[in-house]
Amino acid sequence: MFVRLTELRPVTARDTLYRFTCPAIARAALPGQFVELKLTGGCDPFLRRPISLFDADGTETFSLLVRTVGRGTEYMTGWTPGMEIDVLGPLGSGFSWETDTRDCLLVAGGIGLAPMGFLARRLLDEGKRVRLLFSPRRDAALLEALPFRERLDVSCCENRSALPAALDALLAQGADAVFSCGPEGLLESVAERAAAHGVPCQLSMERRMACGIGICLGCAIAIHTPGGVTYKKVCKDGPVFRGEEVAF
Ligand code: FES
Repeated sequence: MFVRLTELRPVTARDTLYRFTCPAIARAALPGQFVELKLTGGCDPFLRRPISLFDADGTETFSLLVRTVGRGTEYMTGWTPGMEIDVLGPLGSGFSWETDTRDCLLVAGGIGLAPMGFLARRLLDEGKRVRLLFSPRRDAALLEALPFRERLDVSCCENRSALPAALDALLAQGADAVFSCGPEGLLESVAERAAAHGVPCQLSMERRMACGIGICLGCAIAIHTPGGVTYKKVCKDGPVFRGEEVAF
């Protein structure tokens, strides 16, 4: 479907917030899901770009927080408000939690912050306590894009190597659930520390996606089974997986 871009705002030198008006996506979306954008203008016209939903207000608008990392994302920075963009979504399975989950710990590495805005919004709406551990500190300007930033209990780590100890300290204060997105090394460390504290953990995994709808098998991820390892599709079975099931 075509959706209208209503705002494009640089957040840092390499990160941009895009806001769209689309009640269908704004109402249906769940935290952790993604959309696929069709790009033109010198980009591969057949490959859509999967981008996590950064926020959705439940009624009218959704937004994406996108880091410029290549030709497609560079092209997007040339968009202007008012343009109609071809978007598919919302796609994939999102984060989930129990009604009695009270204390939520979000862990984000760099642009892995992207799915956390929407997740924080929903958790806060339900009256949960939300703490966010973010790394690295040099990317902290990204945090200004978060909805309800003032209601979040945020702490920053200097870098990835400082993260396990910081996470241990927060987990030791008590948590009912951990949600994380970021580089794979960070996710592995988060899964390990959460398991050590006996706290359930969900990870938003990233893979290159071609079709985005479960057909091409290009986004496989190794998953533990009782007998060894099997493969699941990040686009269709994920992108969110339980920490203990991912075979890093
Ligand atoms: Fe094609 Fe997942 S991107 S199966």
